[in-house]
Amino acid sequence: MSNVVIMGAQWGDEGKGKIVDLLSREIDVIVRFQGGNNAGHTVIVGDKSYILHLIPSGILHEGKTCLIGNGVVLDPVVFWKEVETLAERGINVGPERLMISRKAHVIMPYHKALDVARENFKCKDSKIGTTGRGIGPCYEDKMSRIGVRAGDLADPALLRSKIEAALVEKNALFSALYGTEAMTVDAVFDEVMTVGEKLVPYLTDVSSCIEDAWAKGSGVMFEGAQGTHLDIDHGTYPFVTSSNTVAGNASAGSGIPAGKLDRVVAIVKAYTTRVGAGPFPTELDDADGNHMQSVGHEFGATTGRKRRCGWLDCALLRESVRLNGPTDIALTKLDVLSGLKELKICVAYEYKGQQVQHPPQDQNGLAYVTPVYETMPGWDEDVTGATKWDDLPEAARNYIARIEELLGVPVSMVSVGPERDQTLMRK
Ligand code: GDP
Ligand code: IMO
Ligand code: MG
Repeated sequence: MSNVVIMGAQWGDEGKGKIVDLLSREIDVIVRFQGGNNAGHTVIVGDKSYILHLIPSGILHEGKTCLIGNGVVLDPVVFWKEVETLAERGINVGPERLMISRKAHVIMPYHKALDVARENFKCKDSKIGTTGRGIGPCYEDKMSRIGVRAGDLADPALLRSKIEAALVEKNALFSALYGTEAMTVDAVFDEVMTVGEKLVPYLTDVSSCIEDAWAKGSGVMFEGAQGTHLDIDHGTYPFVTSSNTVAGNASAGSGIPAGKLDRVVAIVKAYTTRVGAGPFPTELDDADGNHMQSVGHEFGATTGRKRRCGWLDCALLRESVRLNGPTDIALTKLDVLSGLKELKICVAYEYKGQQVQHPPQDQNGLAYVTPVYETMPGWDEDVTGATKWDDLPEAARNYIARIEELLGVPVSMVSVGPERDQTLMRK
């Protein structure tokens, strides 16, 4: 059985949820290993649409085990709401098949307030456009070694003492710097404990769960959130999220040996999108960009914001290949490009008078590159009904072949619509 990482190769929203759901048919255990409910992973099953923020996208397949690893930051209120919503829709979300690492850090009410206050406080050019879900402040507390972990929900005295300690610092910031309301220990404790006890049966040791699954011969899938260029180290810093989104973090974020990962599938959208602030060299502000935005329904699955759209950027993707080492690519939303007369692919950048193959390493360097484009003919045909390679128009096949050539990685799956069966599997 293989152990496969699914990761976003761009700035998120590549269609990871759809591909994880699809591949979950063949795999027993699905693990989230980083990020939190800043993610929005959409799965369409017939006429039903599910947006998963925290629970792995394998949950819709009965009999599969879904794990939330130590590398995730977990908002208990959001988790519980997601559990209830799925249960109302007939999905089994009991603790026998859905589990949370005791070591996962908890997003507290003061993290969310701090995230929002900080964004409001920043001047226009330095706003990151976070999702406001408390992700950054929660990871900060983890690194500062003052965080609350999911396991603490089973120990109210410890939880209370951690809240007391945290609020000394947070309240000083709220009142002295941001001019927002201070929080009381009781209010924070009560808010978390409205759901805290309900989460206790879900707590587990994810690392040993995976080891047990392997002992039974099961394969495990690691579901990445966000995208490579939102990675805290390797992304377009500071316009990034606060976790490592690259494939290698599947190991640290779930407690397994790195050598166990034998397949990495990079999810690549057939064009590029970005939500929030930060450089985007191939961004379009014209009819082609509007086509991608409207035909692709490019609105954030978490915040509802309009996604910025642009041409496929293979210089950016070359860096993703270097950072993640994908074995294969799932190319999504190819159908959205139908009807565009010509397609541009960014193959390199001009930067400081030179042609470069990768994004510059200087902070915000990507804001100062000029894309070098190749132009290819587009196609008019509707490809949403394509079920095999030969059903695709020649221009579409050429577009995919060029991507494979530029990146040196095979495209093993082509997605031509949001539904499960709108996926071409190539041998
Ligand atoms: P994720 O965050 O990577 O899981 O992606 P999102 O769910 O945020 O955004 C992807 C969107 O595109 C969702 O609305 C999906 O239903 C949709 N989608 C996925 N694959 C395809 C595809 O091949 N074609 C079209 N038209 N939509 C797709
Ligand atoms: P999925 O998993 C797209 C972006 C935010 C913002 C930046 C930092 O659905 O692909 P944060 O709240 O994480 O501190 O915000 O990261 N961002 C995403 N963009 N898809 C996501 O997740 C994202 N998660 C965070 O818009 O620019
Ligand atoms: Mg998304």
